[in-house]
Amino acid sequence: MVPAAAFHPRQWTGIFRKLFRAPEFSAQKYWEVRHAAMAGTLAAVGHAQLSETANQEQYCVKRDRIRNALLRHVPSPPGCRLLDAGCGVGELTKLYVELGFEVTGVDFTETAINTARQAGIAADFQHAALERLSLGRCFDVVCVIDVLQHLVDDEAFACAVGALGRHVRMDSLAVVVDSMVEQDVCATHCRRRSLTRHEAEFRIAGLEIIAHEQFVLTHENATKDLVVLQRRF
Ligand SMILES: C[S@@+](CC[C@H](N)C(=O)[O-])C[C@H]1O[C@@H](n2cnc3c(N)ncnc32)[C@H](O)[C@@H]1O
Repeated sequence: MVPAAAFHPRQWTGIFRKLFRAPEFSAQKYWEVRHAAMAGTLAAVGHAQLSETANQEQYCVKRDRIRNALLRHVPSPPGCRLLDAGCGVGELTKLYVELGFEVTGVDFTETAINTARQAGIAADFQHAALERLSLGRCFDVVCVIDVLQHLVDDEAFACAVGALGRHVRMDSLAVVVDSMVEQDVCATHCRRRSLTRHEAEFRIAGLEIIAHEQFVLTHENATKDLVVLQRRF
């Protein structure tokens, strides 16, 4: 395989476009190829066209926002179980472990799960698709960071939100980060939906929004929505 560093990040856009044209698009295949091609770089899970430094800076911003939101709602994480849904290579899983949560990370990309396991992060990593998630236990917090917009198909999106809701313990929390603006196709692997559409699907899954904030990732010029949800039924 040609090492990731051999290509400028912008060249990946063209390569991925050629590889994955709708309607043959397979999200799982897309992520397997991307994780393998960009292994060892944050472009695998961050923004594919940004430099490593820019991705690192954006992850710092995301990490701070998520840490603050978690600690505001869960002041004492030790003893609390957290599910990192769509954990990628475990970049944010590390934060949850540092805060003292008992963490389970799931992702449908085998390469990502293997990388996370090899990184020695003290979490239980499992290979699973969110739309069919059935871990047989509930969590005190479910974090879903930059994943839901990658469920391009509306039915898969609804199934994933439903499955995630079933993994949140009654009265416990979920934290979701995504760009919640209506945008039919921002890329073949991405389908952005408004906050209102998210809210409707969350409600069906028994999840009510109890806090909402926005922050900007300057390098990609994107506004991110961070919502904290509570399971009501
Ligand atoms: C943009 S990355 C974000 C990873 C991680 N949450 C982070 O913020 O570092 C999206 C991740 O979601 C995973 N993913 C996408 N769709 C998924 C699905 N339906 N089920 C499970 N994982 C999925 C991809 O494999 C990828 O690792």
